[in-house]
Amino acid sequence: MANTQTTRAKPEAAAKAEAIAKARSIAPEVPVHIGSTPRTTFRGNPDVFGRLVEDHDRHRALLSMIEQTTGASEERKTLFLELTKELKAHAAAEEQALWSTVMRNPKTTDFARHAVAEHKEIDEMLADLAARDMASPGWLRRFANLKDEYLHHIREEEQEQFVAAEEHLAAQDIKHLRAVFERRKAAEKAEATVEKKIKLKH
Ligand SMILES: [Fe+2]
Ligand SMILES: [Fe+2]
Repeated sequence: MANTQTTRAKPEAAAKAEAIAKARSIAPEVPVHIGSTPRTTFRGNPDVFGRLVEDHDRHRALLSMIEQTTGASEERKTLFLELTKELKAHAAAEEQALWSTVMRNPKTTDFARHAVAEHKEIDEMLADLAARDMASPGWLRRFANLKDEYLHHIREEEQEQFVAAEEHLAAQDIKHLRAVFERRKAAEKAEATVEKKIKLKH
């Protein structure tokens, strides 16, 4: 394995600003209003947890940007495509790098199971939204449900499941898993496809 680049800790505000900038680069005209984010000690850390929170902040920004778009505009289409690829790639790489390792330990099996089960629900919500008419007024209402669900998911990861995982993983693993996540996320994002299927009644 190639030597992984050493990543230094970043101040929380800088880490958050960088993550938001990545989301903004997709549609620079669209404003971002993510407001305050739940407090976490992981933001800016050079380990896998800091890297995952960086993605979460990027996703918080994308979610808030989509809410600022209207109808079936190019901006909404572009941002929703990016969100779908981001969320799917992040979830898959998080499972491959972190949750599979956490699940193996009987003390933390339930934490991993919880996070993975929510990934499945989020996937279904994304497929459902992709299958519906973006120009209809109901689309944004359904999108708001996805946003709530996802914000709940990442908040819980940061506040509960990452905390439990950190307690039970060796320090070496926590560092090493960042590189595994990076590698898998890039591969998953390159291959991510949009599934379009009505799955939800309301
Ligand atoms: Fe997750
Ligand atoms: Fe996550």
